[in-house]
Amino acid sequence: MQKNSNIIDCGTSAAMQRVYQKIDQVANSKASVLITGETGTGKEVCAHMFHQVSRYKDKAFLSINCAAIPDNLIESELFGHVKGAFTGATQNRQGMASLADGGTLFLDEIGEMDLNLQCKLLRFVETGTFYKVGSSQLETVDIRFIWATNRDLLSEIKAKRFRQDLYYRLKVSSIHLPPLRQRGQDVLMLAQNFLQQYAKQEQKSFKYFTLEAEKILLDYQWPGNIRQLKNVIHNLVLSHYGETITADMLLNTLAEEMENLLPQFLSTPEVAKICPKTIYPLWQVEKNASLEAIKFCNGNVVQAAKLLGIGKTTLYRKLQKWKYIK
Ligand SMILES: Nc1ncnc2c1ncn2[C@@H]1O[C@H](COP(=O)(O)OP(=O)(O)OP(=O)(O)O)[C@@H](O)[C@H]1O
Ligand SMILES: [Mg+2]
Repeated sequence: MQKNSNIIDCGTSAAMQRVYQKIDQVANSKASVLITGETGTGKEVCAHMFHQVSRYKDKAFLSINCAAIPDNLIESELFGHVKGAFTGATQNRQGMASLADGGTLFLDEIGEMDLNLQCKLLRFVETGTFYKVGSSQLETVDIRFIWATNRDLLSEIKAKRFRQDLYYRLKVSSIHLPPLRQRGQDVLMLAQNFLQQYAKQEQKSFKYFTLEAEKILLDYQWPGNIRQLKNVIHNLVLSHYGETITADMLLNTLAEEMENLLPQFLSTPEVAKICPKTIYPLWQVEKNASLEAIKFCNGNVVQAAKLLGIGKTTLYRKLQKWKYIK
């Protein structure tokens, strides 16, 4: 499953073994595949790898991100348009559907697609035929489809934002990427690889994690999954020198991460409605102060506990409660 030197083959956990088995089973068929999983679990990476091991590997791999393109442009992006089809359509344009003929078309963030277009997409997937925007000429292509979403499509169907018929069509074959917290030792392999990769890129000499740091890597919940792990390791490599990443360095960086997440929480409409800007729930004040102290002490929990006027065991217990450590 090696795509390029930056993609890490990280499948020792049982959860990933099941993913690899599934890829093996369906890679060479023409069946379309739906890849689901939390944000940052590697859905896009998986789609690329899928193409690489499929019988379409020598043909194009094209992707379209439904969340990144305005609704009124997706149809033309997907199917192309003819000159004069709409204001600004000054010449004929091929869409992804034509360009990916014979290869793989990856439709990312499919849960964001407009309901009207979902209808046209269903016909396209079922028959391989489509019309360019503004054209009445039916075109036919042979494409392997891969889809991805981090939305729960069943809830989207209930909320009438996603077509049930399209869902069942997409779901012929599906792969669920597990969150990093359910991948056991994989986190260490990924972390080690990212450490090597970023040490080389930033010309630093980092090689190892201490055992304590590894324990934190294993125990942390990683809400942002592989993307978060990658960013944390990059940040660590940029901020420190030496050969070894210690638990203190890691805790400090994770504390900063949580601080960045807190304002998002504090600005939820529910909280904003009931509280003036300076009043926060006591547990949040406590958490803020603790993270601030750990950051001030460069990740040294014992010193931070002293500054906070509490015992180190109490602070460790709180960190456990906030899911920093087990
Ligand atoms: N096996 C891997 N090896 C190296 N890097 C990886 C691997 N899997 C994921 N990544 C990295 O993690 C980040 C997130 O991956 P990706 O974009 O595929 O996730 P995603 O599930 O599509 O996320 P989102 O739901 O937010 O779109 C990317 O920077 C990607 O390069
Ligand atoms: Mg993605």
